[in-house]
Amino acid sequence: MRTCRGRILKILSPAGIYENLSAADDDQFEGEIRQMEYSDLEPHVYEGGFKVWESTGDMMDYLENNSDRVQGTNLLELGCGSAMPAIFSVMLGAKTATIQDFNRSVIQCYTEKNILLNNCDPRRFTMVFCDWKSVPEMPQFKKKFYDLIISSETIYNTSDYPAFHAALDHCLSDQGVVWLAGKIFYFGVGGSYPDFLDYINLENKFVVTNMKTIDAPITRFFIEMRRKHL
Ligand SMILES: C[S@@+](CC[C@H](N)C(=O)[O-])C[C@H]1O[C@@H](n2cnc3c(N)ncnc32)[C@H](O)[C@@H]1O
Repeated sequence: MRTCRGRILKILSPAGIYENLSAADDDQFEGEIRQMEYSDLEPHVYEGGFKVWESTGDMMDYLENNSDRVQGTNLLELGCGSAMPAIFSVMLGAKTATIQDFNRSVIQCYTEKNILLNNCDPRRFTMVFCDWKSVPEMPQFKKKFYDLIISSETIYNTSDYPAFHAALDHCLSDQGVVWLAGKIFYFGVGGSYPDFLDYINLENKFVVTNMKTIDAPITRFFIEMRRKHL
């Protein structure tokens, strides 16, 4: 993977993922292997973490062009998949990175391998697999601890908005920022940027700034969220 300023990051190939899944004890990831063969995503079963989705590139560009705002942060990546943005953030100077994915198989057979492939120190990462619903109760997610929360391609399912929003609210520090990248519409799945904005407005906890719009066959957005200090 080449960044906008020409840095090269390594990412495990699909063949490497398949090899790791197949090598796991007790055929525990047989379900994931079958799932990956016929679909990119099955809500609340396999959430697409083995694929690098388009907005990851937008997130990488933004991190690289704003590296001064990444340095020294305690960072959280929600719905990390490959976790290339979090890995890159640590390379750019983030102090720590907590990375979360829905599927254990993704964390174990993909995310963790990408950290090692890029010669990052695994001790700077906390890796967690869980549903967003559990985030506020899990000790790995420290309350109001994270200066920067990043997330890409995670608003495609409207039924997850309450849990995703609550996870942001639990984790973001008072002065922290969220950078969120995604598509304007997710055809066939249901979520959209306008729907997510409506949900944020309903909760009335965050202020949203539109940082950029990316012209593509399906337009992409990049926003910054901060706490509303009421
Ligand atoms: C489409 S993938 C995007 C992966 C990666 N961020 C990217 O852009 O390439 C969506 C990610 O969101 C996470 N996710 C989706 N629904 C979730 C839920 N209900 N609870 C926890 N994580 C969820 C999964 O971890 C999955 O990897």
